[in-house]
Formats: sequence, C-alpha cells, structure tokens
Amino acid sequence: MISGIIGFLVKYNSIFPKSKISLRIMAEIDLQKIVSHCKEYGFIFPSSEIYDNLGAVYDYGPFGVELKNQIKEYWWKSMVQMHENIVGIDAAIFMHPTTWKASGHVDSFSDPLIDNKDSKKRYRADVLLEEKIDKLKEKGEKELAKKNLSQASEEEKVKASRDYAKGLALEEAYKQAAEAADFKRYKELIEEYEIVCEVSGSKNWTDVRQFNLMFNTQLGSVSEESNTIYLRPETAQGIFVNFLNVQKTARMKIPFGIAQIGKAFRNEIVARQFIFRMREFEQMEMQFFVRPGTQKEWFDKWKQTRLKWHLALGTSPEKLRFHVHEKLAHYADAAEDIQFRFPIGFKELEGIHSRTDFDLSEHQKYSGKKLQYFDSELNQNYVPYVIETSIGLDRMFLRVMSDALKEETLENGETRTVLNIPPALAPIKVAVLPLVKKDGLPEKAREIINTLKFVGRTFYEEKDSIGKRYRRMDAIGTPYCITVDHQTLEDNTVTIRERDTMQQDRIAISEIEKIVGSKVDMNNLLRKALEH
Ligand code: GAP
Repeated sequence: MISGIIGFLVKYNSIFPKSKISLRIMAEIDLQKIVSHCKEYGFIFPSSEIYDNLGAVYDYGPFGVELKNQIKEYWWKSMVQMHENIVGIDAAIFMHPTTWKASGHVDSFSDPLIDNKDSKKRYRADVLLEEKIDKLKEKGEKELAKKNLSQASEEEKVKASRDYAKGLALEEAYKQAAEAADFKRYKELIEEYEIVCEVSGSKNWTDVRQFNLMFNTQLGSVSEESNTIYLRPETAQGIFVNFLNVQKTARMKIPFGIAQIGKAFRNEIVARQFIFRMREFEQMEMQFFVRPGTQKEWFDKWKQTRLKWHLALGTSPEKLRFHVHEKLAHYADAAEDIQFRFPIGFKELEGIHSRTDFDLSEHQKYSGKKLQYFDSELNQNYVPYVIETSIGLDRMFLRVMSDALKEETLENGETRTVLNIPPALAPIKVAVLPLVKKDGLPEKAREIINTLKFVGRTFYEEKDSIGKRYRRMDAIGTPYCITVDHQTLEDNTVTIRERDTMQQDRIAISEIEKIVGSKVDMNNLLRKALEH
C-alpha cells in the first residue's frame, strides 16, 4: 500500500493516532443492509419515492451513477477498445415490431403465472416449484447431516430422508413438465406438493397462464394493432438487425463481435430483490459472429475470458461459478451462467449463450433481406453463428456492492462500515479535508483539490470532525483521504490516509497525484482482465 511507495514519501510523524483493523469481520452483510446503505449514502433510491415508489424500478444517486459509469467503462474498455475485432454500437430502444416476432419474443418470451384466488397475489409457477424443491432438499440435507449421512450414496439418502426423497421426486417431475412446457402439470405439482400462498396461506390456485414479459406502447397517435411497438427486452436484437451495416462499414472479418450497453425492459412479476430483478435495467451485451462449426470453441473461450474479467476485480474465486442451463432458450444450442454468491445465494450474474444462427436466419426470413457473410478464405456465403456474452449492469452493480460492503471491528472496539471497492471503480477517488474551517486551511485544501482533477472525481468536505469525515468516505469507498493541517502551510506536506488499512503517512503535496493516480488507474484492472 502506501508504505510500498517509500520513494514518494516524506517521513513525518502523523498528527493522528494510527488505528488498525482487527481481522474479525462482523456478521455477513444481508440484502437489506445493502439496500439501506445504498439509500443512505446516495447510491440508489427507489423510483418516485415521494409517491410511495414504483415497484422494481430504481434511480441511481450521485455516487451510484459514478460507480455505474466506472463499471461500464471497465466493460467497454476491456470488451471493445482492447479487442481489435470487436466494435460498438448504440441502437435505439424502439425497434420495428416485426423484430420481436422474428426473434421469438412475441411467442415465447413469457413466464408461467398462477394467482391465489383468496389473496389475489400473483406468482411465477416455476419459481414456486423451484423454491419448494430447494426447501425440501435443504431440509433433507439437514436431516442427513444429523444422521452423518451427508456423504452417503443417493440411494441411501433417499431411504434415510423423506424430505430429501420428495425434493428429488419433485425436481424430476418439474424438469419433465418444463421440457414439455406442460403448464397444466405445473398446477398439479403445486397442488400435489401442497404449496400455499404466503399471504392467504391457502391452496386455492387458478390455472397457470403464460404472461408475456414485454412492455408495449403505441407508436404515433392512432391506436391500432399495427402501431403497437415494444420496449426492447434485450439489447441483442439491435445488434442483429445491424449486422450487415456494421460488418460492411467497419470492414469486419469473421470472427468479430459487436457490443453495446443499453436499457432493456421486462414486466417482471417476481421483482422483490432490489436491483437484482428490475423492470427497467441496463445490459452490457456482445454478440460474437463465428464460422458455423466453430461455436463450441468460441463458447469455451468466451466463458474463460468473462470469468477472468470478474476475477480481476479481486473477488474470491469461491464466490463465482459456472452453471450449465438445463432448459435452453429457444435460440440456443448451449448456455451457461456465471453465477455469483449474492447475499440471496448463488444467482445468475452473466449469461454466455451459443445462439446458433437462429437470430440472423429469422431476421433474414422475416425481412426478406440477406444477412450473410462472404468468407473469402472458404469462398463461401453463410449465416454466421453467434456466441453472446450478456451481463446486467445493475446486477453487476449489486455484485460489486455485495462483495465490497463490510462492517469491521477495530482494535479499539469501534466498528466501521467500509466499502472495499476496487479503487478503479470507486465513485470518489480522493477526498481533501481541511482539519479546521479557518486559518487558511480551506483555501489550501481547495488549491490541492484543483491539482487532482485529472485523477478522477474528487470530494471536498470541511464539516464535522475529521474522524466522522473519514468514516463517511470509507462508507462510499473513497480509496484516499488527504488531510490539510497547519503544518501543511509551513512545509507543503499533508496526511494521506488509505481506506483499507487506515494507515496514515505524511507526504509532500507534489506526490499526491502520482500515488493516488497509480492506485485508481483503470489500466490496473484491464491488465489483469486481459493477461494471458
Ligand atoms: N440477450 C440475452 C439475454 O437477455 P438473459 O439471461 O435474459 O439473456 C442477460 O439476460 C443478463 O441480463 C442476466 O444475466 C442479468 O444479468 C441481466 N438481467 C436479466 N433480467 C434482468 C432484470 N429483470 N433485472 C436486472 N438484470 C437483468
């Protein structure tokens, strides 16, 4: 850390006592703590809060938008700017309605919903069943652990625990029903396994119905069927319909990718997990066009590249894992998620999909325009195959927050809340704090802050005790605080305090930019993400 940059340091005694953190970290941070922290410190607010919120829609505050922009920059630089064979676009949210017919979203982009007749509460039938499976298996595992049978064979486990056996049986029955898209069977299983509504406690269910997740609106002033257009549920289609425009104008040769970051909209029914599942969210997607037959090789390659991108953030590898999709989307011949251990458990963070030639072929069929590539090496025209990497920006935000937010106990018994985000992503890179609001210290602090504008966003604060100001900066993840005191006026030195170690050192003003700049440099992350 700072002591490692000895050459830059001017050694003086710090005017502040050094506090050290103990290695003990307090109880795991749960989702509710993250929600409150995001609100209290200006990261995320519920949408239209003064009107009692709009469900599953959120607004990013001053520090949230900075963090979100840094995540975007990390993705864009590593995926687009540092890959010679990937270019970006920014397509419109509104697209011709036939796009969604061709892509299959009009017919297949739906969730199976079921209502409880007593409470009128609506649920996703698949989620009710999956939760029941998890509960039964979890209960069974506990029983088995008590009987010291955790490592026993499946057969023994099934014999020894009724719940475990029921969980497995339901899982198998659900899998078969899902494969056959048999929603009548979903209802039968819900009834058979006695799943009750969490509000009314009753088993009085309606039939299961398919509910399309796309929002629609009218184009122009005439409200006719033909004018109905959709808010895009994924950004990918903007890339597919522009495939030839981009390939020709950017002179791209296969294999090549097209990337974009943009808003997507889904009328999610189960939307109670903060920014994990939103109705309006942002995606960072890349479609990589390859020769037919090479898709498996590229699928594996992109899986590894994306995993490395996540690991470069310093996350412990145990918090990330691949999850193979058993039920494939209508367009895919292979699909895996990168799951992250959120406070709500291991959940999908990013999807890597082998989308075959489905989308381009369908757009070709519906538009009557050829969407093919002439491969001069093979002397052949073909519709390219596609590997997609797709990550939700908001979900990535939640993952950064979940990984970074900690409550630490210090040696002196005090606790502090700290956001250990990678410095390159930090909303504020450095805070400059005059010790007191007089004697020319504010003026000196302002002078210093003006020299630091090029390292990134800075923060000036003179209110409250220095300890309180440090704590506030810890809570929003500011990697460095610079304190300006009376000695600064005499010898142009300041105290620099590092967020994670809380170590304080006396350095010359002229060294601040170099120390902070090297620590918060985005290239540190990019090098790790792209190293071979
Ligand atoms: N183009 C492919 C596609 O959209 P997806 O698995 O439906 O695939 C990709 O979504 C990613 O978008 C997910 O891994 C997740 O990170 C994010 N995402 C999807 N639905 C979301 C929602 N309702 N709220 C927030 N993020 C979402």
